[in-house]
Amino acid sequence: MVGAGINFGVDLAKELQQLKRERNAIILAHNYQVPELQDAADFVGDSLGLSYQAAKTSADVILFCGVHFMAETAKIINPDKRVILPDLDAGCSLSESCPPEKLAQFLNEHGDKNYYVIAYINCSVGVKAQADVICTSGNADKIVRAAPADRNILFVPDQNLGAWVMERTGRKMDLWQGTCYVHVEFTARSINRIREEYPDAPVVAHPECTYAVRMLADEVCSTEKMVTFCRESPAHEIIVVTEAGLLHRLSKEIPDKTFIPGPTDTCFCGECRFMKMNSLEKAHDALLNMEPEII
Ligand code: 13P
Ligand code: SF4
Repeated sequence: MVGAGINFGVDLAKELQQLKRERNAIILAHNYQVPELQDAADFVGDSLGLSYQAAKTSADVILFCGVHFMAETAKIINPDKRVILPDLDAGCSLSESCPPEKLAQFLNEHGDKNYYVIAYINCSVGVKAQADVICTSGNADKIVRAAPADRNILFVPDQNLGAWVMERTGRKMDLWQGTCYVHVEFTARSINRIREEYPDAPVVAHPECTYAVRMLADEVCSTEKMVTFCRESPAHEIIVVTEAGLLHRLSKEIPDKTFIPGPTDTCFCGECRFMKMNSLEKAHDALLNMEPEII
C-alpha cells in the first residue's frame, strides 16, 4: 500500500512535467513549499527571486506554488500570462493584517503626514496599489535607503521587518502593526534553549522574527540569503529560524551540513499552514484544469 502511494506520487510528478510541456508552463515554488513541489519546480526561491523569474519567463503559463500574494505579484508583472495557484485559499497572516480599506482609511485620517508608503510584498494587490514602492525581505534596506529624505515613511504590513530595516538604515518609519503568525512563534527562550544544545551552531533568522529573536541571531536575512549564508558558513551545524520548508532545500543543496529547525515554546511545528495548502496533487489538477487562475 505504501509502495502504491510512492508510485502514485512518482506518476503524478511525471504527469505534472508532461502537462508543463504541453501548456508551455513554468513552475515556480517558494522555499517553504512541500518537498515534492520544490522538486517539481523549475525555480525555487524567495519572494524577490520568484518575482524576477516571473518577470523574465517566456512561458505562457505560470504555475505558482506559493501563497496568493506571490501569485498575484506574478500576474501584476505578467498581465498577459495565465497565472495558476494550486489552492486559492493559500493566504498569508501578514497580508490579512493590512486590509486595503483599513490602509485607505488610515492614510485618509493622516493626510497631514503625506506618507511615502513602502509595502512589503506580503500584502494584497489592493494594498500594493496604494503604495509608492514595493519591497521584499531581500531588498528592503535598499528600498528604504532610496526613499525621499523629505517624506514621512509608512511601512506596511510587517512591524518586525520594518523595525529591522529601521535598525539597519537608521531611517525612522511609522510601522503598520502586522505580524507573521509563524515567525512570532520563535522566542528568545526557545532560541536560547537550542543554542545550549548546539553551542557551536550559528543562528540564522528571518527578519519577520521578533526583536528578541533577531538579537540572538548571528545573521538576519531573507530565505534566499539564508541559503547563501548556510553554504558559505564554515559551521557544520546551523540553526535555521524560519518556516520549516526551507530545510528541504538546504539539505538538498548543502548535503554535508546539518540544519536544525528553529524551535518554539509550544508544539507548533514551524510550518505555515497557508504555504502547506498546496500539494503535488493540487498542482497537477490546477495545470490540468487551468484553474484556480489569478485574475
Ligand atoms: P522571503 O521573501 O524571505 O522568502 O519570505 C517570504 C515569506 O513569506 C516569509 O514568511
Ligand atoms: Fe505569510 Fe508568514 Fe506564511 Fe510567510 S510564513 S506566507 S509571512 S503567514
